[in-house]
Amino acid sequence: MFVHQHRSRVKSLVKSSKLLALTKMREQKIGFAGFPTPLQKMPRLSKVLGGPRLFVKRDDMTDLAFGGNKARKLEFLFADAKNKGADVVISTGAVQSNCACMVAAAARRLGMKPVLVLVGKEPDVYDGNLLLDKLLSAEIHFIDGYGPHVEDFMKTLANTFRENGYNPYIIPVGASTPSTVPGYTLAMEELVNQFNQIGETIDYVVCACGTGGTQAGLIFGAKLLDVTAKIIGASVFASKDDASRTVAQLVNGSAELFDVDLSIVPEEVVVFDDYIKDGYGVLNHEVTSALKLVAETEGIFLDPVYTGKAMVMLIDLIKKGYFKKDDSVVFFHTGGLPALFMYRNKLGKA
Ligand SMILES: Cc1ncc(COP(=O)(O)O)c(C=O)c1O
Repeated sequence: MFVHQHRSRVKSLVKSSKLLALTKMREQKIGFAGFPTPLQKMPRLSKVLGGPRLFVKRDDMTDLAFGGNKARKLEFLFADAKNKGADVVISTGAVQSNCACMVAAAARRLGMKPVLVLVGKEPDVYDGNLLLDKLLSAEIHFIDGYGPHVEDFMKTLANTFRENGYNPYIIPVGASTPSTVPGYTLAMEELVNQFNQIGETIDYVVCACGTGGTQAGLIFGAKLLDVTAKIIGASVFASKDDASRTVAQLVNGSAELFDVDLSIVPEEVVVFDDYIKDGYGVLNHEVTSALKLVAETEGIFLDPVYTGKAMVMLIDLIKKGYFKKDDSVVFFHTGGLPALFMYRNKLGKA
């Protein structure tokens, strides 16, 4: 009897710490990106693939720049920047970085000056995200190659701004930190609410995995909400081992930050690296076919770098019989569409 009472008290304490964490997360962000995003069915795609019931969560429709997953993470970082009185925001990424562009858009929305350190050569033509960066009048610096020198350069810029009376705030590459993981934890809650409304349950969620924050947030969300949905990531550059380690570290770091007694091991993270193929951002025949198939069947556009590769994984897993016919599988559309136009030469001939 005593053991039973003790166990149920422990259970209810754990549950209340989980609910408290979700409340704390809601309090630590500013809302500028227009949630909830739509949840839509993809019946024609499902039929063509002979697959499970397919849904798409339209985070390509977040209300920032041209949409995308970074909006959810940036609601946390910009809350912090605002609290600290920042008036300049410095960030980095590749020349076509979705994240850097969204940082610049968020900065403008909050009346701050965006400064971007973009890794790569300045191109002759400003296009895709870089064109949007230009329209946002971001101060752009081009720098050669990734490495610690990029962070050093951002710090030097920040010091110069400080000396000139500004209050700069640095946002790390990909905006994936334990403090931004809650962006996708709350996205999971949003998704669960949408499924509750239509009287269905989620069996699987599929997403692209880059710096890991999106998948980490979704896993953390599933754990906090006690839902059994399995979150499957398609790594776009890291090996399976590296990606699963990064995702687990982000989940555990965020759990610690929000006082939740929870931790996962990398082996629990379901992430595939089989779809990177020729490398990050390299368009291949499977990605082109996936982009066309989703556009032709559902009128939805994917990007070649992230969501295209995640869709190739989803199609492959369906073909391999990974899912049951009556499973509900949600494809998280994480955006990235401005970069689509950078692939015009190859895609235009497909
Ligand atoms: C369009 C798009 N989808 C997915 C991802 C991957 O998200 P994460 O870095 O959180 O793994 C990114 C990140 O750069 C992205 O820009």
